Amino acid sequence: MITDHISQIRAEAVLAIQQINSAAQAEAFRVQFLGKKSRLTGLFSFLKNVLPADKAVAGAEINTLKVWLQGSADELQVRFGAAAETASFFDSTLPGIIPPSGSTHLLTQTIEEVVSIFERMGFDIAEGPEVENTFHNFTALNVPEDHPARDPKDTFYTDQGNLLRTQTSTVQIRYMQSHKPPFRMIAPGRVYRPDTVDASHSFMFHQIEGLLVNSKVNFSELKGVLHLFLRELFGDKVKMRFRPHFFPFTEPSVEVDIEWKNKGWLEVLGAGLVDPNVFQAVGYDPQAVKGFAFGMGVERLAMLRHGIPDIRLFYENDLRFLRQFK
Ligand code: PHE
Repeated sequence: MITDHISQIRAEAVLAIQQINSAAQAEAFRVQFLGKKSRLTGLFSFLKNVLPADKAVAGAEINTLKVWLQGSADELQVRFGAAAETASFFDSTLPGIIPPSGSTHLLTQTIEEVVSIFERMGFDIAEGPEVENTFHNFTALNVPEDHPARDPKDTFYTDQGNLLRTQTSTVQIRYMQSHKPPFRMIAPGRVYRPDTVDASHSFMFHQIEGLLVNSKVNFSELKGVLHLFLRELFGDKVKMRFRPHFFPFTEPSVEVDIEWKNKGWLEVLGAGLVDPNVFQAVGYDPQAVKGFAFGMGVERLAMLRHGIPDIRLFYENDLRFLRQFK
Protein backbone atom coordinates (compact mmCIF):
# COMPACT_ATOMS: atom_id res chain seq x y z
CA MET A 1 0.00 0.00 0.00
CA ILE A 2 2.79 2.36 0.91
CA THR A 3 4.42 1.46 -2.40
CA ASP A 4 1.35 2.80 -4.19
CA HIS A 5 1.66 6.10 -2.38
CA ILE A 6 5.31 6.33 -3.30
CA SER A 7 4.82 5.74 -7.00
CA GLN A 8 1.89 8.17 -7.04
CA ILE A 9 3.95 10.93 -5.47
CA ARG A 10 6.80 10.21 -7.86
CA ALA A 11 4.48 10.39 -10.88
CA GLU A 12 2.99 13.68 -9.67
CA ALA A 13 6.45 15.09 -9.13
CA VAL A 14 7.55 14.10 -12.63
CA LEU A 15 4.53 15.92 -14.06
CA ALA A 16 5.12 18.95 -11.86
CA ILE A 17 8.77 19.17 -12.92
CA GLN A 18 7.72 19.39 -16.57
CA GLN A 19 5.59 22.47 -15.84
CA ILE A 20 8.30 24.40 -14.02
CA ASN A 21 9.98 27.32 -15.75
CA SER A 22 10.76 29.93 -13.09
CA ALA A 23 12.65 30.24 -9.82
CA ALA A 24 9.42 30.79 -7.92
CA GLN A 25 7.92 27.60 -9.33
CA ALA A 26 11.09 25.69 -8.46
CA GLU A 27 10.81 26.92 -4.89
CA ALA A 28 7.11 26.00 -4.79
CA PHE A 29 8.02 22.49 -5.96
CA ARG A 30 10.42 22.13 -3.03
CA VAL A 31 7.77 23.27 -0.54
CA GLN A 32 5.09 21.07 -2.07
CA PHE A 33 7.10 17.85 -2.25
CA LEU A 34 9.66 18.25 0.56
CA GLY A 35 8.11 20.78 2.97
CA LYS A 36 6.75 20.10 6.46
CA LYS A 37 3.24 19.62 5.12
CA SER A 38 4.25 17.53 2.12
CA ARG A 39 2.97 14.02 1.53
CA LEU A 40 6.53 12.79 1.92
CA THR A 41 6.53 14.01 5.54
CA GLY A 42 3.15 12.28 5.88
CA LEU A 43 4.68 9.03 4.66
CA PHE A 44 7.38 9.18 7.31
CA SER A 45 4.78 9.53 10.12
CA PHE A 46 2.75 6.76 8.55
CA LEU A 47 5.80 4.51 8.93
CA LYS A 48 5.00 4.24 12.67
CA ASN A 49 1.93 2.16 11.81
CA VAL A 50 3.71 -0.26 9.52
CA LEU A 51 4.24 -3.77 10.86
CA PRO A 52 7.74 -4.24 12.28
CA ALA A 53 8.44 -6.92 9.67
CA ASP A 54 7.83 -4.50 6.77
CA LYS A 55 9.33 -1.40 8.34
CA ALA A 56 12.84 -1.71 6.93
CA VAL A 57 11.73 -2.14 3.32
CA ALA A 58 9.10 0.61 3.53
CA GLY A 59 11.57 2.98 5.21
CA ALA A 60 14.15 2.37 2.50
CA GLU A 61 11.63 3.04 -0.25
CA ILE A 62 10.45 6.31 1.31
CA ASN A 63 14.05 7.34 1.69
CA THR A 64 14.79 6.64 -1.96
CA LEU A 65 11.85 8.86 -2.90
CA LYS A 66 13.11 11.60 -0.58
CA VAL A 67 16.60 11.53 -2.07
CA TRP A 68 15.17 11.64 -5.59
CA LEU A 69 12.87 14.57 -4.71
CA GLN A 70 15.74 16.47 -3.10
CA GLY A 71 17.95 15.88 -6.11
CA SER A 72 15.18 17.11 -8.42
CA ALA A 73 14.54 20.21 -6.31
CA ASP A 74 18.28 21.02 -6.22
CA GLU A 75 18.53 20.59 -9.95
CA LEU A 76 15.56 22.91 -10.49
CA GLN A 77 17.11 25.51 -8.23
CA VAL A 78 20.34 25.42 -10.16
CA ARG A 79 18.46 25.63 -13.45
CA PHE A 80 16.12 28.52 -12.52
CA GLY A 81 16.90 29.78 -9.05
CA ALA A 82 20.61 30.51 -9.17
CA ALA A 83 20.44 32.18 -12.57
CA ALA A 84 17.46 34.27 -11.55
CA GLU A 85 19.14 35.35 -8.32
CA THR A 86 22.35 36.44 -10.05
CA ALA A 87 20.39 38.37 -12.63
CA SER A 88 18.42 40.14 -9.93
CA PHE A 89 21.34 41.54 -7.92
CA PHE A 90 24.12 41.91 -10.46
CA ASP A 91 23.89 45.33 -12.06
CA SER A 92 26.80 45.65 -14.47
CA THR A 93 26.16 49.41 -14.87
CA LEU A 94 26.98 50.23 -11.23
CA PRO A 95 30.44 51.74 -10.66
CA GLY A 96 32.93 49.29 -9.14
CA ILE A 97 34.22 49.47 -5.58
CA ILE A 98 37.72 50.97 -5.58
CA PRO A 99 39.85 49.24 -2.93
CA PRO A 100 41.69 51.74 -0.70
CA SER A 101 45.33 52.04 -1.70
CA GLY A 102 48.26 53.05 0.46
CA SER A 103 51.01 55.50 -0.39
CA THR A 104 54.67 55.99 0.38
CA HIS A 105 55.43 57.51 3.78
CA LEU A 106 56.22 61.23 3.77
CA LEU A 107 59.79 60.46 4.91
CA THR A 108 60.26 58.09 1.97
CA GLN A 109 58.81 60.70 -0.37
CA THR A 110 61.17 63.36 1.00
CA ILE A 111 64.22 61.09 0.70
CA GLU A 112 63.26 60.13 -2.85
CA GLU A 113 62.80 63.77 -3.80
CA VAL A 114 66.12 64.91 -2.33
CA VAL A 115 68.00 61.96 -3.79
CA SER A 116 66.51 62.54 -7.24
CA ILE A 117 67.59 66.21 -7.22
CA PHE A 118 71.19 65.16 -6.50
CA GLU A 119 70.99 62.29 -8.96
CA ARG A 120 70.21 64.83 -11.65
CA MET A 121 73.43 66.59 -10.61
CA GLY A 122 75.34 63.35 -11.17
CA PHE A 123 75.58 62.12 -7.58
CA ASP A 124 75.75 58.35 -6.94
CA ILE A 125 73.60 56.81 -4.19
CA ALA A 126 75.46 55.05 -1.38
CA GLU A 127 74.47 53.21 1.77
CA GLY A 128 76.19 52.02 4.89
CA PRO A 129 75.43 49.88 7.95
CA GLU A 130 73.40 51.26 10.87
CA VAL A 131 75.51 49.28 13.36
CA GLU A 132 78.94 50.86 13.06
CA ASN A 133 82.28 50.97 14.81
CA THR A 134 83.91 53.95 16.49
CA PHE A 135 86.41 54.29 13.66
CA HIS A 136 83.80 55.08 10.99
CA ASN A 137 81.51 57.09 13.25
CA PHE A 138 84.17 59.14 15.08
CA THR A 139 87.90 58.49 14.64
CA ALA A 140 88.12 58.69 10.85
CA LEU A 141 85.87 61.74 11.00
CA ASN A 142 88.47 63.55 13.09
CA VAL A 143 86.40 63.40 16.28
CA PRO A 144 88.90 63.47 19.20
CA GLU A 145 88.97 60.65 21.77
CA ASP A 146 87.64 62.95 24.49
CA HIS A 147 84.89 64.54 22.42
CA PRO A 148 81.54 64.57 24.32
CA ALA A 149 79.69 63.12 21.30
CA ARG A 150 81.45 59.80 22.06
CA ASP A 151 79.94 59.67 25.53
CA PRO A 152 77.36 56.91 26.06
CA LYS A 153 74.95 59.69 26.98
CA ASP A 154 75.09 60.77 23.32
CA THR A 155 75.71 57.46 21.52
CA PHE A 156 74.09 54.02 21.78
CA TYR A 157 76.86 51.42 22.23
CA THR A 158 76.47 47.68 21.80
CA ASP A 159 77.93 45.18 24.28
CA GLN A 160 80.64 44.35 21.73
CA GLY A 161 81.85 47.96 21.65
CA ASN A 162 80.15 48.83 18.37
CA LEU A 163 77.54 51.56 18.13
CA LEU A 164 74.41 52.67 16.31
CA ARG A 165 75.67 55.35 13.94
CA THR A 166 74.87 58.86 15.14
CA GLN A 167 75.30 60.40 11.68
CA THR A 168 75.36 59.31 8.05
CA SER A 169 78.86 60.85 7.79
CA THR A 170 80.04 57.26 8.42
CA VAL A 171 79.11 56.56 4.79
CA GLN A 172 81.60 59.25 3.65
CA ILE A 173 84.38 57.16 5.18
CA ARG A 174 83.14 53.83 3.81
CA TYR A 175 82.65 55.30 0.36
CA MET A 176 86.14 56.84 0.26
CA GLN A 177 87.67 53.56 1.44
CA SER A 178 86.15 51.75 -1.52
CA HIS A 179 86.25 54.41 -4.27
CA LYS A 180 88.87 56.55 -5.96
CA PRO A 181 88.23 60.24 -6.62
CA PRO A 182 86.81 62.06 -8.47
CA PHE A 183 83.24 61.18 -7.39
CA ARG A 184 80.09 62.64 -5.91
CA MET A 185 77.72 60.62 -3.77
CA ILE A 186 74.60 60.99 -1.69
CA ALA A 187 73.78 58.69 1.24
CA PRO A 188 70.35 58.55 2.90
CA GLY A 189 69.84 56.53 6.06
CA ARG A 190 68.75 56.16 9.66
CA VAL A 191 70.75 57.50 12.58
CA TYR A 192 70.35 57.01 16.33
CA ARG A 193 70.96 59.23 19.35
CA PRO A 194 69.88 58.68 22.96
CA ASP A 195 67.74 61.83 23.04
CA THR A 196 64.63 62.10 25.17
CA VAL A 197 61.66 61.99 22.81
CA ASP A 198 59.73 65.25 22.49
CA ALA A 199 58.17 67.35 19.72
CA SER A 200 61.55 67.96 18.05
CA HIS A 201 63.67 64.99 19.22
CA SER A 202 63.64 61.29 18.52
CA PHE A 203 66.10 58.51 19.38
CA MET A 204 66.05 57.56 15.69
CA PHE A 205 65.75 59.84 12.69
CA HIS A 206 66.91 60.11 9.08
CA GLN A 207 69.77 61.99 7.49
CA ILE A 208 71.04 62.50 3.97
CA GLU A 209 74.77 62.90 3.52
CA GLY A 210 76.53 64.32 0.50
CA LEU A 211 80.19 64.13 -0.47
CA LEU A 212 82.07 65.36 -3.52
CA VAL A 213 85.79 64.78 -3.95
CA ASN A 214 87.96 66.02 -6.79
CA SER A 215 91.45 67.44 -7.32
CA LYS A 216 90.13 70.98 -6.97
CA VAL A 217 87.00 71.93 -5.06
CA ASN A 218 86.16 75.26 -3.50
CA PHE A 219 83.58 76.80 -1.24
CA SER A 220 81.66 78.57 -3.98
CA GLU A 221 81.04 75.23 -5.70
CA LEU A 222 79.57 73.90 -2.46
CA LYS A 223 77.42 77.02 -2.27
CA GLY A 224 76.29 76.62 -5.88
CA VAL A 225 75.30 72.97 -5.46
CA LEU A 226 73.41 73.61 -2.23
CA HIS A 227 71.65 76.67 -3.62
CA LEU A 228 70.51 74.71 -6.66
CA PHE A 229 69.30 71.92 -4.40
CA LEU A 230 67.38 74.23 -2.06
CA ARG A 231 65.75 76.04 -4.95
CA GLU A 232 64.57 72.71 -6.36
CA LEU A 233 63.09 71.74 -3.01
CA PHE A 234 61.71 75.05 -1.71
CA GLY A 235 61.18 76.99 -4.92
CA ASP A 236 63.12 79.64 -6.85
CA LYS A 237 62.42 82.40 -4.34
CA VAL A 238 64.17 80.67 -1.44
CA LYS A 239 67.05 82.63 0.09
CA MET A 240 70.09 80.88 1.51
CA ARG A 241 72.79 81.97 3.93
CA PHE A 242 75.93 80.36 5.30
CA ARG A 243 76.64 80.78 9.01
CA PRO A 244 80.10 79.88 10.41
CA HIS A 245 79.97 76.71 12.47
CA PHE A 246 82.19 73.86 13.62
CA PHE A 247 82.24 70.19 12.63
CA PRO A 248 85.34 68.07 13.34
CA PHE A 249 85.32 66.58 9.82
CA THR A 250 85.00 69.80 7.80
CA GLU A 251 87.12 72.96 7.78
CA PRO A 252 85.81 75.55 7.29
CA SER A 253 82.33 74.49 8.39
CA VAL A 254 78.98 76.22 8.03
CA GLU A 255 75.38 75.81 8.93
CA VAL A 256 73.04 76.64 6.08
CA ASP A 257 69.83 78.58 6.73
CA ILE A 258 66.99 79.33 4.37
CA GLU A 259 64.46 82.13 4.36
CA TRP A 260 61.22 80.89 2.93
CA LYS A 261 57.59 82.05 3.05
CA ASN A 262 58.41 84.85 5.52
CA LYS A 263 59.19 82.35 8.26
CA GLY A 264 62.53 83.92 9.22
CA TRP A 265 65.88 82.13 8.91
CA LEU A 266 65.63 78.37 9.39
CA GLU A 267 68.57 76.01 9.71
CA VAL A 268 68.44 73.15 7.17
CA LEU A 269 71.95 71.79 6.62
CA GLY A 270 75.45 71.34 7.97
CA ALA A 271 78.29 71.55 5.46
CA GLY A 272 81.93 72.35 4.83
CA LEU A 273 85.13 71.47 3.01
CA VAL A 274 86.47 68.06 3.96
CA ASP A 275 89.16 68.29 6.67
CA PRO A 276 92.58 67.00 5.46
CA ASN A 277 92.68 64.69 8.51
CA VAL A 278 89.65 62.84 7.11
CA PHE A 279 91.38 62.29 3.77
CA GLN A 280 94.43 61.03 5.67
CA ALA A 281 92.29 58.55 7.65
CA VAL A 282 90.99 56.92 4.46
CA GLY A 283 94.41 56.83 2.80
CA TYR A 284 93.95 59.72 0.38
CA ASP A 285 96.74 62.27 -0.16
CA PRO A 286 95.37 65.51 1.40
CA GLN A 287 97.67 67.52 -0.90
CA ALA A 288 96.16 65.94 -4.01
CA VAL A 289 92.42 65.99 -3.28
CA LYS A 290 89.82 68.45 -2.07
CA GLY A 291 86.18 67.91 -1.28
CA PHE A 292 83.01 69.22 0.22
CA ALA A 293 80.46 67.45 2.39
CA PHE A 294 77.03 68.24 3.70
CA GLY A 295 74.38 66.59 5.84
CA MET A 296 70.73 67.26 6.52
CA GLY A 297 67.92 65.88 8.68
CA VAL A 298 65.06 64.45 6.63
CA GLU A 299 62.41 64.89 9.34
CA ARG A 300 63.42 68.51 9.79
CA LEU A 301 63.18 69.21 6.06
CA ALA A 302 59.73 67.63 5.85
CA MET A 303 58.54 69.44 9.00
CA LEU A 304 59.61 72.82 7.61
CA ARG A 305 58.10 72.22 4.19
CA HIS A 306 54.76 70.95 5.39
CA GLY A 307 54.36 72.81 8.68
CA ILE A 308 54.43 69.61 10.74
CA PRO A 309 54.62 70.58 14.43
CA ASP A 310 55.75 67.31 16.04
CA ILE A 311 58.41 64.79 14.92
CA ARG A 312 56.51 61.94 16.62
CA LEU A 313 53.82 62.17 13.93
CA PHE A 314 56.27 60.50 11.52
CA TYR A 315 56.52 57.33 13.58
CA GLU A 316 52.99 56.87 14.94
CA ASN A 317 51.64 56.02 11.48
CA ASP A 318 48.21 57.46 12.17
CA LEU A 319 46.41 57.15 8.83
CA ARG A 320 44.83 60.59 9.31
CA PHE A 321 48.36 62.03 9.21
CA LEU A 322 49.76 59.79 6.47
CA ARG A 323 46.79 60.34 4.12
CA GLN A 324 47.53 64.07 3.94
CA PHE A 325 50.67 63.32 1.97
CA LYS A 326 49.37 60.94 -0.69
N1 PHE B 1 77.08 64.94 10.39
C1 PHE B 1 76.64 66.28 10.70
C2 PHE B 1 75.51 66.19 11.74
O1 PHE B 1 75.00 65.13 11.98
C3 PHE B 1 76.13 67.01 9.49
C4 PHE B 1 77.24 67.31 8.51
C5 PHE B 1 77.53 66.44 7.49
C6 PHE B 1 77.99 68.46 8.60
C7 PHE B 1 78.55 66.70 6.60
C8 PHE B 1 79.02 68.75 7.73
C9 PHE B 1 79.28 67.87 6.71
O2 PHE B 1 75.12 67.19 12.32
